[in-house]
Amino acid sequence: MQDFIFQNSTKIIFGKNKEVTVGEEALLFGKKLLLHYGGGSIKETGLYQKIIHSLHEQEIEIFELGGVKPNPRVSLVREGIALCREHSIGFILAVGGGSVIDSAKAIAIGATYEGDVWDFFDGKAEVTESLPIGVVLTIPAAGSESSSGTVITNEDGWYKRSTGHVSLRPRFAILNPELSYTLPPYQTACGITDMMAHILERYFTNEKNVELTDRLCEATLKTIINNAHIVLDDPTNYEARAEIMWAGTIAHNDLLSTGRIGDWGSHDIEHEISGIYDIAHGAGLAIIFPAWMKYVYKHDINRFAQFAHRVWDVEFDVNNLERTAKRGILKTEQFFRSIGLPVRLSEANISDEHFEEMAKKGTENGPLGNFVKLHEQDLIEIFELAK
Ligand code: NZQ
Ligand code: ZN
Repeated sequence: MQDFIFQNSTKIIFGKNKEVTVGEEALLFGKKLLLHYGGGSIKETGLYQKIIHSLHEQEIEIFELGGVKPNPRVSLVREGIALCREHSIGFILAVGGGSVIDSAKAIAIGATYEGDVWDFFDGKAEVTESLPIGVVLTIPAAGSESSSGTVITNEDGWYKRSTGHVSLRPRFAILNPELSYTLPPYQTACGITDMMAHILERYFTNEKNVELTDRLCEATLKTIINNAHIVLDDPTNYEARAEIMWAGTIAHNDLLSTGRIGDWGSHDIEHEISGIYDIAHGAGLAIIFPAWMKYVYKHDINRFAQFAHRVWDVEFDVNNLERTAKRGILKTEQFFRSIGLPVRLSEANISDEHFEEMAKKGTENGPLGNFVKLHEQDLIEIFELAK
């Protein structure tokens, strides 16, 4: 096991109707805030009105910036930074999913920095501080509600890049599973795949003695798998929605990475796809993760066989570990398909036109992944497997 420091200070406020407490929580950070949200779902569901009411009750002055798109754009981030500077806003409240939260985080680092915010995403500057942010989560998926990272797309060249810092962990995150009842099935499925991918990225490690975190990963994966079809068949099933929402946070709050080095190659490859094709991150992962698994499993057949047996209940064939490993990969792919996601690029209408460009862009700062280092040609072969 590797040495580690684990610090996750996000205050999680979990349960029914908890969004009505947002005013009290926000007040701890001052009497003025930027309310940041997406394309309108919060107005349709009535959440927006509830948030405004709770903030008004605490006499908090509200500046608003809506319109965050999935795969959030740096141009809107720049607008948010300008608003924060103009009105001396010191706190950002993100109401939405990963895209809104990431956009809020990018505003939070840009508002305290003199240069252009993209500097943090293309490696020209390192984050050292940020404005505090708070979250009301509406879709369990990205785990951004307690992660230290943010992922932003630059329309100039369609680069999708990430940066991070401990100060970016939201100060509080309100998680009411009822808020996820209105999700379209496709978004529910994309969220499920993303949280599973966050665990798989951590699971496939070269570290040997990490039994506790292996088993925590397996338990979280099994919980997601057990509840996925329940929420898809019965979207207002509170208990199942609650399991999925909490799993999404646990998947990415870094507890499951303690003592081990994760891979993250599939995420980086997926960012190239959603950067160019603007598909949902979870859908991109449903396509790339099985292809990545097929490409790398021989690197550690034992680990893949363990995964197949413990997560998918595949019989552990001691005489044929490769068969066990391959059945686990097939089960993963079949599961993503069963929840309604594409598992091939062609199913998402993506041709081989940009394979070389994506492989080049993806590796321009060096090889991807840690479990197996992936170079430009490896990415092309993974795209071929995913065709
Ligand atoms: O924009 P609105 O109208 O709100 O609609 C959203 C959006 O269209 C809709 N939605 C959200 N909650 C809803 C709802 N519709 C009905 N009812 C609700 N309760 O869902 C759509 C997707 O929202 P989005 O925020 O894009 O989803 P998600 O949470 O999956 O976030 C994806 C983004 O997070 C990044 C991804 O790359 C992607 O850009 N990630 C961020 C990470 C992080 N910061 O730690 C880690 C992840 O690996 C990921 O890369
Ligand atoms: Zn992800």
